[in-house]
Amino acid sequence: MKKNRVCTLLGIKYPIIQGAMAWISDGNLAGHVSKAGGLGIIAGGGMSPELLREEIGKAKLITNNPFGVNLMLMMENIESQIEVCIEEKIKVVTTGAGNPGPYMEKMKNAGIKVLPVVASVALAKRMEKIGADAVIVEGMEAGGHIGELTTMAFLPQVVEAVSIPVIGAGGFCSGKQFLAGLALGAEGIQAGTIFLTANECLIHDNYKEAILKARDRSTVVTGTFTGHPVRVIDNKLAKEIVSLEKIGAPNEKIEELGRGKLKLAVVDGDVSLGSIMAGQVASMVNHRSNVSDILEFLMSDLEKEKKALNNILLNI
Ligand SMILES: Cc1cc2nc3c(=O)[nH]c(=O)nc-3n(C[C@H](O)[C@H](O)[C@H](O)COP(=O)(O)O)c2cc1C
Repeated sequence: MKKNRVCTLLGIKYPIIQGAMAWISDGNLAGHVSKAGGLGIIAGGGMSPELLREEIGKAKLITNNPFGVNLMLMMENIESQIEVCIEEKIKVVTTGAGNPGPYMEKMKNAGIKVLPVVASVALAKRMEKIGADAVIVEGMEAGGHIGELTTMAFLPQVVEAVSIPVIGAGGFCSGKQFLAGLALGAEGIQAGTIFLTANECLIHDNYKEAILKARDRSTVVTGTFTGHPVRVIDNKLAKEIVSLEKIGAPNEKIEELGRGKLKLAVVDGDVSLGSIMAGQVASMVNHRSNVSDILEFLMSDLEKEKKALNNILLNI
């Protein structure tokens, strides 16, 4: 049997990536995910190069397994962040918020596998052309900044359009969803929300409680009008932003209201005026567990669902 391409490419045991989460996925979380057999990602967004190096150091103390760094390409210090990744011999970089083109050769020459997060089929094709090793296709079910398409509709379109491995993101939280992603043509999944209540995820407990309490319709999308949609758990801040959007308030005013609010929720635990970014699957995250248990659960639940699906298919 041929080995899964994502596992071979990234040097990991399970085709599961812990998606970058700004202010949240630090060296500790990423290190533990990689130690447990997935691919942990340190979110570089908002970090100084010094802090990034520190977090990489923390992950290295936890595991010798590969882990990655997420680079938000619009950041002013992007060049120095890339230097840090090269000096620290980072194996995998995921990219967002911009075009990795100008940095591709440099990263590839340093042996880094580059996995851009894409929001359209055209972008996925362009990324393949300029040398991306795989693409991450994120549906709008996901937590945080999102595109317009759903995983269900978008993922198979990219799979048809490129020949590099495709990793599905947005809405993966159980064996059924994992299996559905594979059926749509993904060769691996990226998940964020499921890791928010992990014991190794060092966020304020109020944030974790908000995830544990979430129900099926608890998330809303703010920022649609400003062109920067973000999926969050509905709260006072989200309501304020949505009402400003409804009356057509200036973009700057809305953007200003949202500034620094993820940190307010993650670090200070203000779950009323802070931004509690989370995906639609937040309602399926019902307990706290170790990262290794989350990965084992996803793999064993996938096996269980494979068998259940076989039985269903026998009768069709
Ligand atoms: C709190 C939070 C912060 C996020 N921050 C980032 C980020 O900094 N960079 C990025 O590329 N994706 C970010 N994401 C997206 C995740 O990496 C991942 O793709 C997404 O969570 C997957 O969907 P799910 O929420 O349904 O699991 C974030 C998601 C969440 C929930």
